[in-house]
Amino acid sequence: MCGIVGFVGEGNAKEVVIEGLKRLEYRGYDSAGIALNIDNRIEVRKHVGEIVNLEKLISDEDFDSNIGIGHTRWATHGAPSDINAHPHVNSDSTVAVVHNGIIENFVELREMLQKDYGIVFRSETDSEVIAHLIGIYNKGDLLDAVYKATSKMRGAYAIAAISSDDPDRIVAVRKDAPLVAGIGKGCNFIASDIPALLKYVREVYLIENDETVVLDKNSIVIYDDNRKVVDRDVFHVTWDSDAAEKEGYEHFMLKEIYEQPKGISDTLHRRIDENGEIKLDGIDISKEELEGLSRIYIVACGTAYHAGLVGKTVIEKYAKIPVEVDVASEFRYRDPFVDDRTLFIAISQSGETLDTLAALREAKRKGARVLSIVNVVGSSVARESDDVFYTWAGPEIAVASTKAYTTQLVCLYLLALYMGRQRGIVDDDTLSRVVSELEALPDKIEYILTKEKDIENIARKIYKNNNVFYIGRGLDCAVAYEGSLKLKEISYINSFAIAAGELKHGTIALMEPGTLVISLATQEKLYEKMISNIVEVQARGAFILGISKVNTKEIEKHADEVIYIPHCIDDVVPVLSVIPLQILAYHIARLRGCNIDKPKNLAKSVTVE
Ligand code: M6R
Repeated sequence: MCGIVGFVGEGNAKEVVIEGLKRLEYRGYDSAGIALNIDNRIEVRKHVGEIVNLEKLISDEDFDSNIGIGHTRWATHGAPSDINAHPHVNSDSTVAVVHNGIIENFVELREMLQKDYGIVFRSETDSEVIAHLIGIYNKGDLLDAVYKATSKMRGAYAIAAISSDDPDRIVAVRKDAPLVAGIGKGCNFIASDIPALLKYVREVYLIENDETVVLDKNSIVIYDDNRKVVDRDVFHVTWDSDAAEKEGYEHFMLKEIYEQPKGISDTLHRRIDENGEIKLDGIDISKEELEGLSRIYIVACGTAYHAGLVGKTVIEKYAKIPVEVDVASEFRYRDPFVDDRTLFIAISQSGETLDTLAALREAKRKGARVLSIVNVVGSSVARESDDVFYTWAGPEIAVASTKAYTTQLVCLYLLALYMGRQRGIVDDDTLSRVVSELEALPDKIEYILTKEKDIENIARKIYKNNNVFYIGRGLDCAVAYEGSLKLKEISYINSFAIAAGELKHGTIALMEPGTLVISLATQEKLYEKMISNIVEVQARGAFILGISKVNTKEIEKHADEVIYIPHCIDDVVPVLSVIPLQILAYHIARLRGCNIDKPKNLAKSVTVE
């Protein structure tokens, strides 16, 4: 997804901006560009493809500037190309702009700019209108021009602008797209994401919606939408830049798979007190409010949605409240039955997924209480929620979500137990049994990780398959969806997940000799039925890879390969059973030579609808 970096002050703007953009590469992009103010003249260079192309383009140019902005673009309006890449400039190149998000009324604005000002557009982007709008209002006060321009715009955006008529300032605005300002010494920074700045600063201001920020080399001033100065606390970033590096792993995805024991320990930490009781920081729902709830919606996208499927089962079981799970892109268009007795749970790693954010706003508008399970501190979802339950997974860089998923599951278990306790449903014995199972998870994952080589060997046998099915029942079905998504997004294999009992209603027609069927059989109550489903596909010649608990050997009679996970109660199995599926997807993609951390067509944070 698009990224913004800006720098002003003592230092080499070109180097700082390029370095910052590289730190944002993990978000996904298709072109990159930079604008520098050199002797009161704006110079723009941009190039389709990787940042290295841009670097080559400017390597021989002696750009000495102390102010600049840069951008990595992920195409929405107009194909990836040099022309469509950011920054965009106005007609006489006195203003340069970088933009994340979408300007919804850009067609109308473009027509107005063409008709009333005779402006000729160069690109197909919505973003170019911003440069022209600022240009027509710019009379030497960039802040004033940006205010006037944004008052005409509708949509979601983060913008940073520089002008040769106001040469010492960067003006940036945030509306529904992330923006942070980094506090330097004799210099200041703007970026769409904290990792872009970690090489230079630890202290940042989190810019809120509808705020405009003006940076020069000595100050950062934040204004609200009425141009009043806003007082903002400094946010100190505690994680270091190494956390955003690969630390010797070949890929971020593998590193993040291995970080799961720690992520889970951190997520549990201090949320279970010395008496084994659940204590949830950031959540302030009274017993009475919980009693009064008529329903819960869990709404999310992709992997986070798959975590929600597990959440539904455990919340209904332990808290006895009806739960519906929906993908965010569908939720808000179906007029969901939401009122002030509804609890809306948003799950999001990034906290910036536009569909999830929009669904959250819709639920809020209808009176729901909003609780979010989020990984990125200070993200939009977190800030717009009544209660925030952070997953302490640490930064997740690989596009394929791994540690965010398992920590989301842990939050959902804690939440289910907490609500069940508050409602007097979960007794002491149940609480202590489930809590000790949760506390045992990090060690059990460590054990599964020691089996990486065995899983890689299985991957070698199956990586050439072009069609893969994942089947399971109950919670195994939820994990099948996640395993299948993991495989398809990083290996480009056509994979499909289905409730095992549904096979005979159509999908079994696709089974033929050699078809790979990854079969999860961990749920004790459903074990025999699952074995029957495995036998059905085995009879059609499928190659079966089983995932099961160590103490259930029946599956060996029917499966070609079996990966065992340590014993645990059925409810917490998803945290364990997903690990071999993540490792398997990783090795299959690696054997197929795929770009694992940055799969084609995908972005880490999907901030468009
Ligand atoms: O940041 P979010 O959790 O809101 O992202 C939601 C999905 O876009 C994300 O989980 C996506 O499906 C991942 N690529 C899956 O690995």
